[in-house]
Formats: sequence, structure tokens, C-alpha cells
Amino acid sequence: MKRLIIAIDGPAGAGKSTVAKLVAQRLGYTYIDTGAMYRAVAWQVLTEGIDPASEAVANLAHKLDMKLTYVDGKTEVFLNNQDITDDIRTPEVSRLVPKVAQVPELRAVMLTLQRDMAIAGGVVMDGRDIGTHVLPNADLKLFLTASIKERAKRRWHELTSKGYTIDLAELENEIACRDKADCEREVAPLIAATDAVMVDTTELSIDEAVTEILELCKERQ
Ligand code: C5P
Repeated sequence: MKRLIIAIDGPAGAGKSTVAKLVAQRLGYTYIDTGAMYRAVAWQVLTEGIDPASEAVANLAHKLDMKLTYVDGKTEVFLNNQDITDDIRTPEVSRLVPKVAQVPELRAVMLTLQRDMAIAGGVVMDGRDIGTHVLPNADLKLFLTASIKERAKRRWHELTSKGYTIDLAELENEIACRDKADCEREVAPLIAATDAVMVDTTELSIDEAVTEILELCKERQ
């Protein structure tokens, strides 16, 4: 059976990572969370107090020593051998990451790293530009969406369960701003590939979304 290359894109909170992890698990594939890679760089920018719009981000991109592992359902991220898995999920990093993700030099470095990770097949990669730029020849491209209200609610549950106190309306506004920045950036904006299958998860349970995607995988194996 063919080991597929599966690209999953979509806005924040559409359920990409949850669904991608489960699909990868069911197929015995590798899951690659490209958002975690951009978050790791944003964390470094924040930690070092670098101006996110400066050339320093491009310089940083060329010196990246990043490792991603997927253990027990969790993407672990190491930057310069430091485990920053939890640090990259803070609201501060979420707010900063779209600015950092606009830097063309950084995107170029990420593109090479991500293509290398997918080359052998048997991968599910999620992000914003996977079907359009990183893996334009993927065997299956999916674009996951959900209403902004539903996406904000999901993120709110995720963050409050981790102990953050966060206002739902504020979070909805932040997600809308992040989507806008991701959709409007010049290099590799968030957009569905013309050959992507659209999956609206607003009314779908996780199980239903995974089942629908596994069916599509079967057709292409
Ligand atoms: O997927 P996640 O929400 O963790 O991604 C965080 C941010 O990283 C996105 O809002 C976007 O700015 C950036 N990103 C990107 N391209 C990708 C993956 C993520 O620009 N392929």
C-alpha cells in the first residue's frame, strides 16, 4: 500500500493538529506540526527581545538548531537542545508568531526543512501553506475550517484547561487578527490549494472528521 503524503491546512483552531495526529496514528505515519516550528522561532525572538520585523529574524533563521519529536501524542520541540515544548504555546507566543512568520528568509528555511521531513512519505503535515507551497504534490490535500465562534471556543477550552485565565471575546478577536495576518501576508499566505478537499469541522466531532479523512486516504492509497 502506498505511504501517502498528506497536507492539512486551515486557520487557527479548526482542529488541524488534533485530527492530523489521530490520522497519523491510525495510519502509522509521522505527524509534523509546522506551526510548532514557527512558534519555536517566535519564542526565541521573544526571549532575546528581537524586533520581529528586523533582519535579525532572517539571521536567526540561518542558524536554527531545531528538533521536533512526536512522543505519546505530543510534539516535543527542542531549540539549541533546550526543551521548549510548553513555552511555545503561551498566548504571548501566539500573538507574536504571525509577525515572525512573515519573514521571507525564515519561510525559505522552513520550507527546505519541512520538505526534507516529508520526502520519504507516510507523513501528515499540518500548517498554513503546506498544500500550496511546501508539498504541492501531496497525495491528499485537506483544508479544515470551522466558524470563528467554534474555533475560539475550542482554543478557550484548551487554554483554560492549562490554567490560563482568558476572555472568550478577546480570544475570538485575537484569532481573527492572526487569521487576517496569515491570510494577507505576501509570502505563502493561508489559502486553500485549488485541489484541496474542504472539511468544515464546525458541526463534526473529532471522530467524524477523522473517519471522513481516513476514507479519503483509502481512495488514494
Ligand atoms: O498551527 P499554529 O496555530 O500553531 O501556528 C501558529 C502560527 O504559525 C500561525 O498562525 C502562522 O502565523 C504560523 N504558521 C505559518 N505557516 C505554517 C504553520 C504555521 O505561517 N505552515
